[in-house]
Order: sequence, then C-alpha cells, then structure tokens
Amino acid sequence: MTRHPTLRTALLASAATLLLTTAAFAGEVEVLHWWTSGGEAKAAAALKSTMQAKGHTWKDFAVAGGGGDAAMTVLKSRVVSGNAPAAAQIKGPSLQEWAAEGVLANIDGVAQAGGWDSLLPKVVSDVMKYKGHYIAVPVNVHRVNWLWTNPEALKKAGAKVPTNWDEFFVAAEALKKAGLVPVAHGGQNWQDFTTFESVALGVGGAEFYRKALVQRDPATLGSATMERVLATFKRVKDYTDKNAAGRDWNLATAMVIRGEAGMQLMGDWAKGEFLAAGKVPGKDFVCAAAPGTANAFTFNIDSFAMFKVKGDDKVKAQNDLAAAIMSTEFQELFNLNKGSIPARLGMKMDKFDDCAKLSSKDFVDTAKSGGLVPSIAHGMAVPSAVEGAMKDVVSQFWNDAKMSPKDAMTRLVSAAKAK
Ligand code: BGC
Repeated sequence: MTRHPTLRTALLASAATLLLTTAAFAGEVEVLHWWTSGGEAKAAAALKSTMQAKGHTWKDFAVAGGGGDAAMTVLKSRVVSGNAPAAAQIKGPSLQEWAAEGVLANIDGVAQAGGWDSLLPKVVSDVMKYKGHYIAVPVNVHRVNWLWTNPEALKKAGAKVPTNWDEFFVAAEALKKAGLVPVAHGGQNWQDFTTFESVALGVGGAEFYRKALVQRDPATLGSATMERVLATFKRVKDYTDKNAAGRDWNLATAMVIRGEAGMQLMGDWAKGEFLAAGKVPGKDFVCAAAPGTANAFTFNIDSFAMFKVKGDDKVKAQNDLAAAIMSTEFQELFNLNKGSIPARLGMKMDKFDDCAKLSSKDFVDTAKSGGLVPSIAHGMAVPSAVEGAMKDVVSQFWNDAKMSPKDAMTRLVSAAKAK
C-alpha cells in the first residue's frame, strides 16, 4: 500500500483538467486534514477560528482515519480531477513528491515577510521547502516515542512505569495478572509501525534506527539487532487484546483513559485525547519516553502544503492561512490542544504541561546529541512507496504467528528497495 502510487501518471493525464479549478466565493480557504478525534478536532477548531477571525470562510475538508492514509487517497483524487483544496495536511518526503508534480504554490513571499528561516529549526524548514522554496508551513512537532500509562491501573497491578523493554514485559505481565489489558493497541498498519519503531529505537538505539530504517542499509536490516527488535516487537502483541484488530488509535487511548488498559505506545496526539477527556497529566495519566528511548526523539511534523489556487481572494486567504499558522498565538493554542509542541522556535512554554516541556527539552537536546530521528510510521523519513511496503511487512509479521523474525528481515530488505 502506498500513499499515492500512481500519482505521477494520473496527474500527467489530467494536466488539462487541473487548470479548470472550480470557482468559489471570496476569501474561502478549503483545508484538508484528518483531525477528527476528540483532541484533534479541538486543535483543528483553533485553526478554523484563527481564519474566521481574519474574515475568511473556512471550508472544512476532514477525512477521518488516523495516520492520514484515507485523507491522502481522497486528496489524490481531488487533485487529479483538478479540484485541489487550498491547503492540505501533507508531511515529510511526500511534500517533495507533491511539489515535483508542480501542483504546489510557492509561498516564499509569506515566509520572507515572516522571517521563517530564523523562526524554524533547520530540520523543520528543510522539509517545508522544495528546491529552496517554501511550499508548506509547519504547525507542530509531535514526538512519537512515548508510552502512556494509567497510574491507577499500574497501582492495581503493583507495576511501575517501565524504562526499558525488560521492565516493560514485567509491567505487562503484572497488568495481565490483575485482569487488565496490558497494552492498548489498534488495528491499522501505521499503529503497528508506531510500536515497531519505538521498539527499534529502544532495543537498537538511534544509530541503529537511522542505519536500518532511514538509510535502509541491507546489512543492518538483516542484523542480529534487527532480529532482537522483531522478536521484542512480536512479544508486545501477546499483551494486546483480541479486539485490537480494526480499532482506531483513539479508542485504544480511551481504554487507558478508562483504566481498562494499563499502557499505550503512541505519539503525543494521544495526550490530546487525555486532555480532551479532562484528564490531568502526572495525576490521571503519565507520559514517559517509550522503554529505552529517553535519550532519543522520533519526530513527526504536521504541516500544510499550499496548492496552486486561482483568484486574488483565494490567494490572499491562503497566504493569510500560512502566516497565521506561524503566529505565536496559533502555535500556542493549537499545540496546547494537539498534544504536540510548537514548530516555531523561542516560544514561551509556561502554559504547557510537563509532557510538552520534556518534549521541548528533549527535541533540543537530541538534536545536539544525535538522538533526533524521523518517524517512518508518520511519513517523515522515506519515500511513500517504501514506507507503505515496509509497513505492510511489519504488519504481516505482527499478524502472522508463523512468520519468523528472519523471514520478516528478508522481506524488509526487499521492501526497503520499493519504487
Ligand atoms: C499525525 C497526527 C495525528 C495522528 C493520528 C499522525 O500521523 O501527524 O497529527 O493526530 O496521525 O491521526
């Protein structure tokens, strides 16, 4: 499964229709995103109200489905039929793929006026540019390698928050004995990979992660360390419940919120769910780095790509959207709800909770130490075709009791070469 496997062909074929964008009324900005869970919707509302306050009409184009696979499919068909939205939630190397098709707008004017080059960490601004020109704007930095726990559930089981994978399985076993679901998990391949990459980081370390999953070095993908990673990953499955298949990530988070489950490995959009449910960090739920990953940070940056639009009003609304996203007010309000931290540098963090403060500190520290790595599960590291192929292998391995780590490694090596 790739995000948009036939994108190039389809776009070429429809180059003519691309020009026939539908007319719409002044100042309208249509925005495609996949923020439909409780916490996500609150964050999206912040974007909507920011635009409405500027007098623009917000046309919501929400496509449900965590991780965004469904949204990307819908986006592709909209662009192919010559009816692109003004902005769409697109991330990482996919931004480059879309830009290469010539459908994205150059927003250097807004970026220069706002001084974005000095307001964004280079690791972020590089991703927002295509051939040196801004084509997208970042809203946040999510950390993916988190473990969320319910302290009541852990207490009931006599377990403590694990700091490495051995401790993780001790806690999981205790939770199981206490009659709870040890690990809340769902059923899409991006959820499997979210767990997988945290295990890879915790078992193998940042250097291994980079070599195996980002650079896709065949020897590292086939190494003894990778075998241990896969075996550890598969062991996690024993502590998930039978109904995980098909479950959405936020419903898994809800199990931790209610105390039915003890732990969840998920990025910090999960915190948005806890907060939207009125839960207090450090009291009702605990955030900790995924086992063995305290000195590392898997980043996932949400961003909006701007599509070429016609008409001065639409261009104005689009530019206003881009500028508003980079404002301190928006970056604060949005991220307080989303669970992430601002993408913009130098933001005051006093209104943020301890999880966000830790994330902010670790983002800076790991950038210096070499522990900052891009998330593969969330489209930050590899071309979308490769990402899809690797996710498929990892999920097949997760779901197939008979597949050995060695088989999975062989398949990963060929998936890593996907075109
Ligand atoms: C996005 C988040 C989103 C999550 C679940 C991730 O890929 O970056 O913004 O909340 O998927 O939908």
